[in-house]
Amino acid sequence: MIRIAPSILSADFAALAQAVDGIADDADWLHVDVMDGHFVPNLTIGPPVVKSLRKHTAMYLDCHLMITNPEQYLEAFKAAGASGCSVHVEVGCTEALIKQMRDLDLDVGLAVNPDTPFEAYEPYLADLDLVLLMTVFPGFGGQKFMGEVVPKIRRTADAIAAQGLDLAIQVDGGIDEQTAPIVAEAGATIFVAGSAIFGADSPSAAARRIREAGNRAA
Ligand code: DX5
Ligand code: ZN
Repeated sequence: MIRIAPSILSADFAALAQAVDGIADDADWLHVDVMDGHFVPNLTIGPPVVKSLRKHTAMYLDCHLMITNPEQYLEAFKAAGASGCSVHVEVGCTEALIKQMRDLDLDVGLAVNPDTPFEAYEPYLADLDLVLLMTVFPGFGGQKFMGEVVPKIRRTADAIAAQGLDLAIQVDGGIDEQTAPIVAEAGATIFVAGSAIFGADSPSAAARRIREAGNRAA
């Protein structure tokens, strides 16, 4: 079954509570995009916003850390109420970061840029709750889905099945009604969508359509 994780990056930050309420019935997780202006050329939000969201909702808060020094902030995300964090494999120190997230009792995600090869993250699969395969270069919402990532999704799904592992494949970037079936067919099960949901006239209807399109192809 497909899980839908709307990215609040495309919501109105001045009306976040209403945005969350509007999709709560049709979403499984909330995806929180954290950018530091260093790992990616954009700045967004951090633990204070997670803390405010946590006061407002019991939803699973899935924090995607596009930051160079995640080890300095994991504890603050946990304290703010994050459910899980994903750190990027490209920042390095992956083993230590996984251990730190486990020790903090955060669900453990590892995010992977579109041009980072399978071999770079394969050794960690057994230690993860999710692997986040980016289908755009991180930094901005509203970019075009990169179909060239699909073989990597399929290869990851095959490796998970072959090794009998228990982790989810999450995809992020350009996911909408048209691309959801492509990634579902390849083996992804958690779909992040920002502009396709919060840019729609009815975000909840858009989330339902993405879920249905994914489930039909899964
Ligand atoms: C991109 C972020 C994404 C982004 C997705 O750097 O990690 O989560 O919000 O936005 P869309 O769905 O518009 O591509
Ligand atoms: Zn993201």
